[in-house]
Amino acid sequence: MHHALQKLHEETLQKIVEVNDLEGVEVLELAVLGRKQGALTALLRQLGALAPEERKRAGQRANEVKQDIERALDERRTALRAQRMAGLEEAEWMDVTLPGTPFPRGAVHPVSVAIQEIATIFARIGFLRARHPEVDSDYYAFEALHMPPGHPARDEWETFFVASAADGDQNGKQRERIVLTPHTSNGQVREMEKGYLPIRMINIGKCYRRQIDVSHVPVFHQFEGLLVDRQVTVAHLKGTLEYFVRSYFGPDRTIRLRPYHFQFTEPSFEIDISCAVCGGSGVQGGARCRLCKSGWLELGGAGMVHPKVLQAGRIDPRTHAGFAFGWGVERVLMMRHGISDIRLLYCNDLRVGGAAV
Ligand code: FA5
Repeated sequence: MHHALQKLHEETLQKIVEVNDLEGVEVLELAVLGRKQGALTALLRQLGALAPEERKRAGQRANEVKQDIERALDERRTALRAQRMAGLEEAEWMDVTLPGTPFPRGAVHPVSVAIQEIATIFARIGFLRARHPEVDSDYYAFEALHMPPGHPARDEWETFFVASAADGDQNGKQRERIVLTPHTSNGQVREMEKGYLPIRMINIGKCYRRQIDVSHVPVFHQFEGLLVDRQVTVAHLKGTLEYFVRSYFGPDRTIRLRPYHFQFTEPSFEIDISCAVCGGSGVQGGARCRLCKSGWLELGGAGMVHPKVLQAGRIDPRTHAGFAFGWGVERVLMMRHGISDIRLLYCNDLRVGGAAV
């Protein structure tokens, strides 16, 4: 009897150490101390068969074993409960007052914002937004604009030509050659061909040229204004451009009109605006301003529509006249914010444009 009690005691204590969940403790308790089938209970039942002296000693011992097992079971239960609580705390506790993890937020690209603003400014004075092809024929990009094949003025546009069926035939089909439009002026005759008058158009689109430096990129945007009506003069052109510059840049920026030459306008002008980087002085940090070098920056060209262009658009130059201008979207944006390198706008850095990172 003594030996059986000893064995049960040792084995049970070992099992208590090994059990690692509360359910296991319950099962073990039932298997050892359970009233019906517990191993210790079974041993106690055998006490009656022993001699009185032996029964007394074995009874005492059995009680000690029982108490020791009960104590060990309780301790193990307490330890496992503490473990379970700690696990729960780790998995389920949270501080709902902590600020959340911010998601990176995108923003509309600054050039898209500028396009919207420019369209809105011109809409206020009745210029309707038009869209014309960005991949167009040589005819609309050059020939209809009074630049016949072989004319030297074409060189200024450093054009990308698209391979086309007309490439093999330099004589008759030049006008069918396809170009990536180097300016939005291809929209002038296209708009006139729609056959309505008066015209007040603002065509904003992508342009392509073989150029890259601090103020030129191969893909950029222009906005092209065209107004055709009776009795249109240079005064209307100047007033319109001044209205735009005041609306977009504010009253403290100045512009100047410089005589210039374009094949498709007569007279022609270049419009310059005082540089925002150097404040119009041409000097920045003791050196020549990296952007403008002279205090002035070219915004773009303008002029009175050439009679030949009106004729190409089936408009009679004896009854109607028009003005046109074509400026760079990136250029006006850079001038307003003092951006010194146009390539910053296209470097995929989310900080350009104020997007939260
Ligand atoms: C023209 O493209 C004429 N079509 C403008 C015009 C329209 C004149 C109507 C008269 C009447 P120009 O080549 O100067 O002109 O370009 C106009 C403007 O586009 C430039 O002043 C500049 O702001 C912008 N620009 C030209 N090339 C680039 C380039 N590679 N990258 C960024 N902006 C450019």
